[in-house]
Amino acid sequence: MNNTSSKRTVGVVFGSRSVEHDVSIVTAHQVMQAMRPEKYDVIPIYITRDGAWLTGAALRELSTFQTNNVAELMGVKKALISSDTTHHGLIINPTSGLFSRSQLQHLDVVFPALHGSHGEDGTLQGLLELADLPYVGAGVMTSAIVRDKIMLKALLSHYGMPVVKHTWFYRRDWVNKPDAVLEQIASELGYPVFVKPASLGSSIGVARAENADEARNFIHIAANFDRRILVEAAVEDAIEINCALMGHYDIRASVLEQPITWQEFLTYEEKYMRSEGAAGMKGAERKIPAPISDELTQRIRQMAVDAFKAVDGHGTARVDFLVREEAGEVFLNEINTLPGSMAFYLWQEEGMSPSDVVDELIKLAIDVHAEKRETLYNYKTGLIAHAAARGLKGIKK
Ligand SMILES: Nc1ncnc2c1ncn2[C@@H]1O[C@H](COP(=O)(O)OP(=O)(O)O)[C@@H](O)[C@H]1O
Ligand SMILES: [Mg+2]
Repeated sequence: MNNTSSKRTVGVVFGSRSVEHDVSIVTAHQVMQAMRPEKYDVIPIYITRDGAWLTGAALRELSTFQTNNVAELMGVKKALISSDTTHHGLIINPTSGLFSRSQLQHLDVVFPALHGSHGEDGTLQGLLELADLPYVGAGVMTSAIVRDKIMLKALLSHYGMPVVKHTWFYRRDWVNKPDAVLEQIASELGYPVFVKPASLGSSIGVARAENADEARNFIHIAANFDRRILVEAAVEDAIEINCALMGHYDIRASVLEQPITWQEFLTYEEKYMRSEGAAGMKGAERKIPAPISDELTQRIRQMAVDAFKAVDGHGTARVDFLVREEAGEVFLNEINTLPGSMAFYLWQEEGMSPSDVVDELIKLAIDVHAEKRETLYNYKTGLIAHAAARGLKGIKK
């Protein structure tokens, strides 16, 4: 905590080199709006589509992002989160010039609001680990594993959790031997199938193929977005059920929701645009609580908690299921870490306002960071003295 005030200074990082850049801007603004001004000083940190890091008050206005030259706006400056632990924050104007001296902005906590690549995938979390800064949400390994739909399925299967039948291949396999790939799909799964880039979210590149011709077309599209492509057997007549989680060791599961789809499934536009502007997900249609039996509700909530633990989750996540109640089938479809998991609406049902959710997540970030103090990172040995005395040759590592 900052010495001069009881408020916490929170850096909210958003944007970045990701096809989900726009969603991230909206999420970050929802988060910043939910931060109680009496508790937090908010520092917006925006990474442009090209990967330039910026800060400045103008970045707290959603309208700022309607212009193309955000970097040139009044008061907007270059800024980097330093990986140097003694900085513990943001270096503003990192390359100082005639009119721009660099400055250090201390941060108490970082709130990652990046969706997708270069942010939600463990990369920003890696920087924050190096910087020794507390941050909200999942750690490096959890973020990376759940972002990769193929890895996640392998891990969940290891724990005996139900995932849909699937197969995968490299983009290179597809380019070199498309017919062999189609043969693999037909023999291992049959049709219909869902084609997905391994590591995207927000339904970008996800499509349902009824036959090999459609699969050919959709794989061609998915291959633009990732070098590994997942193909899953379609679960017919399934309903979707989502459960949000929050906690460190004591994990809280939210009420379950059934998102209602108008088309075959939620497309990117439906998810984010079938609602009024920055209100984001608020306007999307959904049923809360999900209309399933109490018994199934309990089973799914428990599975969500188990999956969260299986990926060493902490902070928050949302686990999505595909369910066929009559057949008694439940498949774990995906786990979304922050900010894909930012299910304010589910916690609202549990009596938590968006501001309460943000408070709790920041508290968890501080707890998780404090726990790292229990791990030893500094271990002095006599190796240097030994090497100095005996020479470098013959030193076994
Ligand atoms: N195997 C499947 N069977 C039936 N529907 C599926 C299947 N996989 C995905 N879907 C539908 O497609 C949607 C998007 O797929 P999902 O894996 O959740 O991708 P994203 O990461 O883009 O959210 C799901 O919400 C669901 O409606
Ligand atoms: Mg999904």
